[in-house]
Amino acid sequence: MIVCVCHRVSDRDIAIAASAGCPNFEALQDDLRVATACGACRDCACAVFEESRVAGGSPGARGMAVAAQALLAA
Ligand code: FES
Repeated sequence: MIVCVCHRVSDRDIAIAASAGCPNFEALQDDLRVATACGACRDCACAVFEESRVAGGSPGARGMAVAAQALLAA
């Protein structure tokens, strides 16, 4: 699922970065450019990133739910 429409960043891209050891959201932004344009995806991208870190690199259910809600609200 695409989380960041501006830069076409998916939940899987975020999970891969988390599993590769991305230390924090700012580093994720540097790596993937997620949430660096309009910013509408920031909360969703943060949730997916944190869930992926907790889940060891796979997007968690909560992060996916937040992502889906954000897309439906857009
Ligand atoms: S949707 Fe991610 S910066 Fe616009």
